Amino acid sequence: MDHFELRHDALWCERVPLTEIAAEAGTPTYVYSTATIVRHAEVMKSAVAGCGTGQPLVAYAVKANPNAAVLATLARAGLGADVVSVGEYDKARAAGVRADEIVFSGVGKTEAEMSAVMKSGLLQFNVESVEEARTLSAVAQSIGCVAPIGFRINPDVAAGTHAKITTGTADNKFGIAAADALAAYAEASALPGLRITGMTVHIGSQLTSLEPLEEAFTRLGRVLQEVRAAGHRIDLVDLGGGLGVAYDSALPQPPSPQAYGDMVRRVTAGWDARLIFEPGRLIVANAGVLLARVIRIKPGAQHPWLIVDAAMNDLMRPALYEAYHRIEAVRPNGRRMIANVVGPVCESGDTFALARDMDELAPGDLVIFRSAGAYCAAMSSGYNSRLLTPEVLVDGDRWATVRRRVDIDAIAGCLPDWLT
Ligand code: LLP
Repeated sequence: MDHFELRHDALWCERVPLTEIAAEAGTPTYVYSTATIVRHAEVMKSAVAGCGTGQPLVAYAVKANPNAAVLATLARAGLGADVVSVGEYDKARAAGVRADEIVFSGVGKTEAEMSAVMKSGLLQFNVESVEEARTLSAVAQSIGCVAPIGFRINPDVAAGTHAKITTGTADNKFGIAAADALAAYAEASALPGLRITGMTVHIGSQLTSLEPLEEAFTRLGRVLQEVRAAGHRIDLVDLGGGLGVAYDSALPQPPSPQAYGDMVRRVTAGWDARLIFEPGRLIVANAGVLLARVIRIKPGAQHPWLIVDAAMNDLMRPALYEAYHRIEAVRPNGRRMIANVVGPVCESGDTFALARDMDELAPGDLVIFRSAGAYCAAMSSGYNSRLLTPEVLVDGDRWATVRRRVDIDAIAGCLPDWLT
């Protein structure tokens, strides 16, 4: 459920008409709904309540939407953070996330990042290789810290999602193979400056079936048993993120968070560990839209080209993953059209939809791309010297620009002395 609804013949976000935001903030603009973000956080928390020992930690995957206002909203809703860079770590802390509710993931943590995060504190480094553990040990010793670690296990399970966001098969770069886990824990336990605290897994994103997750968790449970039997203490098990959201009713529907929680409760019964979850998309995807305007309509061989003022640099998921985003008129007139929806960027990949049956639109009309709260603004760029799209946060009847449209000068580069 989200809070983008038709009222008085036009789309509103909570109690603010999108026409008002477009008039004042300009287009294209991302618009996020506080009520939707908070609701999704509550749904996830209650879905996993009672899983594992003690209170589970829902650590929001900051990469999905790192906007400061979104992070502050989630920190207030009681979520921790899963970060993959010192930049994300700093943003999470600045938003009010406690250090002991942050896990640090990623295959390429640098020594500088390890050191900075260790000094400021965290719940656990999710370590992706023995090589990384060795470096972490050296960094910890050099600054007189002890690093809490959990190895990420690659369970070799196909997630059944797009290849580019599958992360848990043997040919992906992530984690260590289950067969190598025992040796990794043995080596890490002998390294100074490390404290073994946990184990982690994450097999991919936008999963629309629970089966691969259940298989991955079951395999992880076996590794957990084996590692504990060898005498290692594991108090935290991080089950990653990945639960998909509904981009369209015609696509396979993802399982509900409740069904996910029930599966986790069943598979992890008796694990005797505190559980961590790292949802990203589930929390923010359907809490945001990209608001744009139709520039012009140009005849096409089969269907008209509907050219909007948003482009692949603003929303690259269709170009990158053939992703589907629902497209709707802000003021639907009740008629339909079939169109190819594209942006102004100079490549054919700048296509949002081909032969889409959609609301009829005319030049100057406002349009939204739904489910644009996750991995959209986060992956935007200034390609074609287009300005970085602003972000707006709505809360009831108030709204504010929470990322301004970045000025061209900020991304234009500068001249070395020999070119001045
Ligand atoms: N934990 C780890 C270690 C991750 O790598 C990710 C996402 C998450 C949690 C959160 O996964 P989620 O709950 O959001 O599925 N740009 C792509 C998605 C990339 C996901 C990267 N990792 C897209 O637009 O679909």
